[in-house]
Amino acid sequence: MSQPSRLEIAVRRTRPDEEEPDRLPLRWATIARLLSFTEAHRGQRNALLWLCAFRAMALPLLAWIVGHIIKGPITAGDGVGTVEWLLLFLGAVIVADIALYWRIRLAHQIGEAVLRDLRDKLMKHLLTQPLSFFHGRRHGSLISRMISDIEAMRNGIQNNFFITVVSIGQMTCAAGLMLWVNPQLFLVLLAIVPGLLLIHGFFRGKILQASRIQQESFSRVTSALAETVQGIRVTQGFAREDTNAGIFSRLVHTLAGNVVKTASLSALYLPLLELNSQGFLAALVGVGGWAALSGSGTGLGDLLTFFFLADLFFSPITIIGTQLSEATLAMAGAERYFRLLDTAPAWSDAPAAKECPPLKGKVEFQEVTFSYLPGQRVLHGVSFTAQPGQVIALVGHTGSGKSTIIGLLAKFQLPDAGAIRLDDVDLTDIQQISLRRQTGFVFQQNFLFAGTIAENVKSARPDASEEEVRQAFRDLDCLDLIEALPQGIHTQCSEKGRGLSLGQQQLVAFARALLANPRILVLDEATSAVDTLTESRLQLALARLMQGRTSFVVAHRLSTIRKADQVLVMDQGRIIERGTHDELVALNGAYASLHRDFLSSTN
Ligand SMILES: Nc1ncnc2c1ncn2[C@@H]1O[C@H](COP(=O)(O)OP(=O)(O)O)[C@@H](O)[C@H]1O
Ligand SMILES: [Mg+2]
Repeated sequence: MSQPSRLEIAVRRTRPDEEEPDRLPLRWATIARLLSFTEAHRGQRNALLWLCAFRAMALPLLAWIVGHIIKGPITAGDGVGTVEWLLLFLGAVIVADIALYWRIRLAHQIGEAVLRDLRDKLMKHLLTQPLSFFHGRRHGSLISRMISDIEAMRNGIQNNFFITVVSIGQMTCAAGLMLWVNPQLFLVLLAIVPGLLLIHGFFRGKILQASRIQQESFSRVTSALAETVQGIRVTQGFAREDTNAGIFSRLVHTLAGNVVKTASLSALYLPLLELNSQGFLAALVGVGGWAALSGSGTGLGDLLTFFFLADLFFSPITIIGTQLSEATLAMAGAERYFRLLDTAPAWSDAPAAKECPPLKGKVEFQEVTFSYLPGQRVLHGVSFTAQPGQVIALVGHTGSGKSTIIGLLAKFQLPDAGAIRLDDVDLTDIQQISLRRQTGFVFQQNFLFAGTIAENVKSARPDASEEEVRQAFRDLDCLDLIEALPQGIHTQCSEKGRGLSLGQQQLVAFARALLANPRILVLDEATSAVDTLTESRLQLALARLMQGRTSFVVAHRLSTIRKADQVLVMDQGRIIERGTHDELVALNGAYASLHRDFLSSTN
C-alpha cells in the first residue's frame, strides 16, 4: 500500500471539495429536469424549437437549391429560370439568417429566464432551511453553489443544448436529402458512418478524461500557489521555502505533461475526422464519377449536390463534440444544484402548528436533551420554569450549553427529547415565524443588514416611525452615542471599513430587539463588546426594560446576575445548581467558586 506523498497531503488539505468533479457525464434525467424549467416560458421555448428545426433544414435546403440550379436551369441553358431560382435562393438565405438571429436571441432570453428562476428557487429553498442546515456547511460552498454552479449551467442552457439540437438536425436533414437526391450515392455515405462512430467513440472518452485530469492538476497548482501566498509568514518563518518551491515545481511539471497529453489526443482526433470526410469525398468522386461517366443516370448535378451536402453532414460532428464536452461542465453544475435543491429540511413546523398566541411569558423546559451531531449530546435533561416577568440568568463556563438553551428557545433547533412550552403551549405547535414577533434576541455577534441603522432597527417592525427608533435608543440610554455618529440613525451599517464598531452593533441590536416590544427578551453575552462605561448605563436601562418581560440573560456581569430571580448554573450540558444569587453563594458550591473567581479577577 502506498503512503500518500507529502505533496498529495499538502494539496488535499487546500482542496476540501476535491471530491466534487468539475464535469459529469450527461444524464438524461437531469437534462429533462432542467428543461422542465422552460415550461414556465412555454411560448418562447416552442417558438425556439421551431426555429431550431428550421435552422437544421435551412443550410441543407440551400445546398440542395444550388445543386438544383446547376442541374436544372444552368444545364438546360435557361437564363430566366436561373435568375428566378437565384432570387429564390437569396430570399431563402435572408430568411435563414433572420431565423439564426432569433434562434440565438431567444436561446439567451430563455436561458436568462431559466437562470433567474433557478436562483430564485434556490434562495427560497435556503431560506426555509433550519439553522442546523447552515451549521453543517461551509458558507463558501453555499455561495459558490448560488453563483458558479448556476453560471456553469448558463452555457449548457443557452448554447450547448440548442446548438446540439440544430447540429444533429442538420446532419439528419443533409443525410435525408442525400438519400432523396440519389439513393445509390447515399450508400457511399452509409459505408463511411461506422468509421466515424468508431473514431468518435474512441476519442471522446479519452479526450474527456484527459481534460479532466488536466483540470485537476491545474487546480492543484492554483491551490498550492494560494497556500504558499496565504501562508507566506509560516513558510518563511519555518524555512519551508525550499519544500514549497519543490512541491510547486513538481505540480507545474505534472500540469505541463497533462496539457500536452490532452493536446496530442485532440491533435490526432481532428486529422482522423478530416481523413474520414475527405475519404468520403474521394469515394464519392470515384463512385459518382464512374456512374456519371458510364451514363447510368447519376448526373454531375447530383454529384455537386452531394459535395455541398457532405460538408453539411460532416462539419456538425466536431461542433457536437465540442458542445457535448462543454455540456459536461453544465451537467456537474446542474447535478450539484439539484442536490442542494432536493435537500429536505431536517425539520419544519408541524403542519398543525399555529400562530403564536399573545404571550404572558411563561417558559418551561422539561427534561430537554439535545445534540447538534448524532451521538454527541450537548444538553442532558434540562428542566426549569420561568414565570412571566422573571429574569433568568444562565451562568457557566464556555461550552456548557447556555447558547444552546437560547437556540432551542428561539426554535432554531428542536429538542431530541423532552418539551419546551411557552404559556403551556408546546413550542412544536407554534409557527416559528410568529414566535419571532414576540421574542427579542440580542447576541454576542449580531448580524446587521446592509442599510442604515434606522432600517436595521425597523426590521423588527417595518411600520415603526423614526421617532420610535430614536425612542428605542433613548430607552436604552444610548441615543446620544448613536446621534454622535456622523449621520446619526442614518449611518450606514455594513459598508466595508466604514462600519460600526462591535459595541455600536450591539446597541443597534438592542434597539432592534426592543422596538418590537417583545414578551420574552433574550440577551446572550449581548454586552460583551460594549465598553464598561456604556455598559453600566445600558445595564441600568436594561433593568428597567426587563420589567414585565420574561428575560433570559447570559452574562458575566455580576450586577445582572445578582438581580436575577433565578440563576441557572450550567456545566457540561446540565443544570448543576439553581436558585437566587444569595442562595447559591450560601450553598458554597460551583456558583460560589465562580463568584469568587469573578471577584478576584475584577479586583
Ligand atoms: N452548531 C454547532 N454544532 C455542533 N456543536 C455545537 C454547535 N454549537 C455549539 N456546539 C457545542 O455545544 C456545546 C455547547 O455550546 P454552547 O451552547 O454554545 O455553549 P456556551 O454558550 O455555554 O458557551 C459546546 O460543546 C459546543 O462545542
Ligand atoms: Mg454562548
